[in-house]
Amino acid sequence: MIGIIGAMQSEITLLRAQMQNEKQTVLGNKVYYEGVIAGQAVVLTQSGMGKVNAAMCAQQLIDRFGVDKLINTGIAGGVALGLHVGDIVIADKTVEHDFDLSPVGYVKGCLGKDGEPKDEPTYYYTDKVLVEYLQKAAQQYMSAENIHIGCIASGDQFVSRKEVKQELRNCYNAYAAEMEGGAIVHVAGENGVSAVIVRCLSDLADENAHESVDNFEQLAADRSADILVSMLKLMSD
Ligand code: ADE
Repeated sequence: MIGIIGAMQSEITLLRAQMQNEKQTVLGNKVYYEGVIAGQAVVLTQSGMGKVNAAMCAQQLIDRFGVDKLINTGIAGGVALGLHVGDIVIADKTVEHDFDLSPVGYVKGCLGKDGEPKDEPTYYYTDKVLVEYLQKAAQQYMSAENIHIGCIASGDQFVSRKEVKQELRNCYNAYAAEMEGGAIVHVAGENGVSAVIVRCLSDLADENAHESVDNFEQLAADRSADILVSMLKLMSD
């Protein structure tokens, strides 16, 4: 079973419209939509923004619905140089960039897990097969130069300052910033479940980000969801 998480309504609208045989379950304050999209049995939920909401939903999907693959879709801010609004970023790994134990001797982004080095950020890795499916699906919509595979940095903050953007590039070689993916891949990793993230850039995580999100949120959210639907089709073939 595949679990799909989008943070905002704009990020799940297209997926719900594609879902057949929808059945709703309410757990806490979240609604889980079970059904079939492009031939695959899925459970879809709108987590709300941020890492705690995303982690809650990821764990519920695993525990209550027996999900063994988690997919996160939505919008993100572009961080790497040379990216454009509308580009796709697929995560090969994630980092929680706002996790900060630096006052006690760790580098930023290091989760301080027992037995792990203090001088390296903690990365959680996505599933290579799922990344390949997403890449193939994205290629049906856009040219290779607009599809990027790299680190996605997640934090409980909207990134719109160039100092923060630069830090994400320098410390983690991050391609995109968003607020949930890192939590989802973290929960997946801790539970032995595979995961992947696809994001379409709504902005470039800079001073124009607010206006850019206002203009491109739905377009970017739909592009990410379209690619996810195509991925599910490829998995069904
Ligand atoms: N989601 C979309 N754009 C973002 C940004 N710039 N920072 C964090 N999350 C985002």
